[in-house]
Order: sequence, then structure tokens, then C-alpha cells
Amino acid sequence: MPAVVIVGAQWGDEGKGKATDLLGSRVDYVVKFNGGNNAGHTVVIGDQKYALHLLPSGILSPGCVPVIGNGVVIDLSVLFEEIDALQARGIDTSKLQVSANAHVIADYNRSLDKVTERFLGSRKIGTTGRGIGPTYADKMNRLGIRVQDVFDEKILRQKVEGALELKNQILTKVYNRRAVDVDEIVDELLSYVDRLRPMVSDTPLLLHDALVAGKTVLLEAGQATLLDVDHGTYPFVTSSSATAGGACTGSGIPPTRIDRVIGIVKAYTTRVGEGPFPTELHDDAGEHLRKTGLEYGTTTGRPRRCGWFDAVIARYAARINGVTDFVLTKLDVLTGLEKVPVCVAYDVAGVRHDEMPLSQSDFHHAVPIYEELPGWTDDISAARTFEDLPKNAQAYVTAVEKMSGARISAIGVGPDRDHTVVVHDLL
Ligand code: IMP
Repeated sequence: MPAVVIVGAQWGDEGKGKATDLLGSRVDYVVKFNGGNNAGHTVVIGDQKYALHLLPSGILSPGCVPVIGNGVVIDLSVLFEEIDALQARGIDTSKLQVSANAHVIADYNRSLDKVTERFLGSRKIGTTGRGIGPTYADKMNRLGIRVQDVFDEKILRQKVEGALELKNQILTKVYNRRAVDVDEIVDELLSYVDRLRPMVSDTPLLLHDALVAGKTVLLEAGQATLLDVDHGTYPFVTSSSATAGGACTGSGIPPTRIDRVIGIVKAYTTRVGEGPFPTELHDDAGEHLRKTGLEYGTTTGRPRRCGWFDAVIARYAARINGVTDFVLTKLDVLTGLEKVPVCVAYDVAGVRHDEMPLSQSDFHHAVPIYEELPGWTDDISAARTFEDLPKNAQAYVTAVEKMSGARISAIGVGPDRDHTVVVHDLL
């Protein structure tokens, strides 16, 4: 029975929450396998809007078991804030399962994320400041605190002491900040023990048993392909594996179990934070996309950088993730434009690149080569079949599909759950 991965095909905020939600009632388990509360899904159900940062969006689907996998870094204060906020709105969160091997974001890592960015000055990454990078660095340095450590006070204290031996040197001597007190950190983490205990389980075993029993498991990536620590625009990336390969390590589900990979791609491109972005627009067209598409960060409220669709990136994402189906989101935002440019390749110092350039320096200097497609003016929000779309919108989708290397199986035509054209079933 299927394990399906959902990944962002650009720099994040492609609308994964909506796609996950579209499959929601047919999915038995939704697993978040990477990242932490740097993510932001906005899910609109009826007249209710839910902004989730840490919890998998499957938490909004009754009957679905939401799982936070071992590849996630968890800010426990945010976890319980989100749970409390949902419970106050009548959402049942009791099925949530949390991996014992997931790492927790300690307060010193939130501080270090912010001071490091300030220290970097013009070389900053533009992180969300949530402590993500330092917590993954601790994991790789074998200095991290895992969820299971919180249940053993002696071990927890030893690990926090070990981490702080180094961190306090850095905080005080490099950044001129105050040292962090071991008790403060330990006491905060211990304060969550009673609420956390019933949620914690052996999630790889749970998911294995679910697949053997014929259940459908959806693995939901945070961030996106171009923000992946290996395959993204390094160093302007997040610190986790946000591509389909990360779904296996971050959940404990083996590669042989993955049947389908759904890539979410916006009908144009956005990015928050620093780093190269070839099709970025600095003119009225960019402002138009930002205003019409409401392109402001769910997590930080930052205005997103906006630009035209980049087919080179879509092709790259298709290849790196093994995308079987694309969901093209926010097509409605392009309504009303006379012409819609699409980047088909890059020009780097007079040389045409149809694929991502090998070197990051070349990518920084990539100049988009555009093809202009004719626009459409009719409102498309009522379209529910491909044939309902105006001819030029159909032609845009077909052209983008051809350039991107995988079929487009669903098209977002508005913000609501049902504002979707389904071309091929996603399960
Ligand atoms: P970090 O994940 O907070 O370390 O930030 C690293 C980079 O990833 C920054 O450019 C962030 O803006 C970006 N980023 C992190 N999470 C998201 C997301 O959910 N959507 C879009 N960009 C993100």
C-alpha cells in the first residue's frame, strides 16, 4: 500500500498544505520528516484559516494520524502552543505521534541562530531565527538533545551540561552574550514531560506496521528542493533534507516503500531570505505578484521575493525528487496579465544552460531566457476541470508541464480547499 511523498519544488511556500489537505481524507498517516517550526502551512477550511508551523497539516483531517518523524527538530513550547490553539478551536489533536529520536530545539540554539545571523552581517542566510540550523548542527556534532532524553532527568542534565560547556564559551567569548544556566534549560524541558509522554512512540515501527496493514502514509516535506542542505542553493538553504530522499531518513520508511512523489510548484516563483533567484522581479510586475498572491511569510511575515516561473528549477526538482506528479498552485494569481513570461533556460556569460549550472557562482550570474505565453482575463476560480479553464490558461499549463518533466495532476485556482482542478488522481 502506498507511501506518498509531497515536496516543494522551488524555494518553499508553494502551497503544500493545500495539496496535503486535498488528499487528507484518503490518507491514514501524515508524517512531517524534516525541518521544524521554520515551516508555515496555511490551510483554509470553509471560513476558517489555520496557520501551522510545526504540526503536520494532516492534524486538521479527522481520522488521520499525524506523525512528527525523527528527522524533525522540535521546539516543545511551539508544539504545545499549536496544540492548545487547535484544541481551543475544537480540533482533536489526541492522535499525534512524536518520534523518540527527534531532536529538541533548546533555547540556546534559538539565541545562537539570531546572534550568528547578526554576526554574519551582509553574508547572512536570512534564517527564520527559530534555532533550526544550530539544532541540526548539534545533531551532526553528536551534541543534540533528543525527545527521549527529556524522560531521563539524569541523562538530560548530562547532555545539557555537555552542550553548554561549548555553547557558553561561544555565547560569551565570541558573541559577548550572557552564559546560559543549565538549570534553566533542564527545567524548561522537564516542564513538558507529562504532556509529551503519551505522544511519544517508535514511529518507524508504527509506520512500518501501518504500511503492512495496507494503510496510506503521506510524507510531507517542510521547506523545498532549492532549500535542501545537499541539493539546494547552498549556503542559502535550510539545514535539513527537504527532498524526497530525506523522507526515508527522516521517517524510517525505506526507499522501496515509496510509490509516488508529488512535487508542488507555484505558477510563478517566490523566495524568502537571502540567496540567488534568477527570475526575481524588482519592478511593478513583482509587486503585482506579491499583492495578488498575498506573498508574505506565514512564519515571519516577511514580504516574499517574487518572480516568474522557472522551468529549469522545476525540471531540476523533478529529477532530484523523482517527481511522478506535479500540483501547480496559484494559477489564478496570473489571471489578468497580458503576457506571462516563463524562464526556459539561463544565459551565463553568453553560454546557454538548460539545466542548473554546476557552480553556484554561475547560478548567481544566471540571466533568464524567457518565452512569453499569452495571458487570460476570465476569472478561473470556478474551474473544476481542465476544459473549464480559458484556452490560454490551458496552454500555459500544458507548456509548463512539457518543460517541467512530469505530468501536472492538479491545478490550484483559488485559496479554498475546493478551488482545485484535478486532472489525474493523486493516489
Ligand atoms: P532556517 O530554516 O530558519 O535556517 O532558514 C534558512 C533559509 O530557509 C532561509 O532563507 C529561510 O527563509 C528559508 N526557509 C525556512 N523555512 C522556510 C519555509 O517554510 N518556506 C520558505 N522558506 C523557508
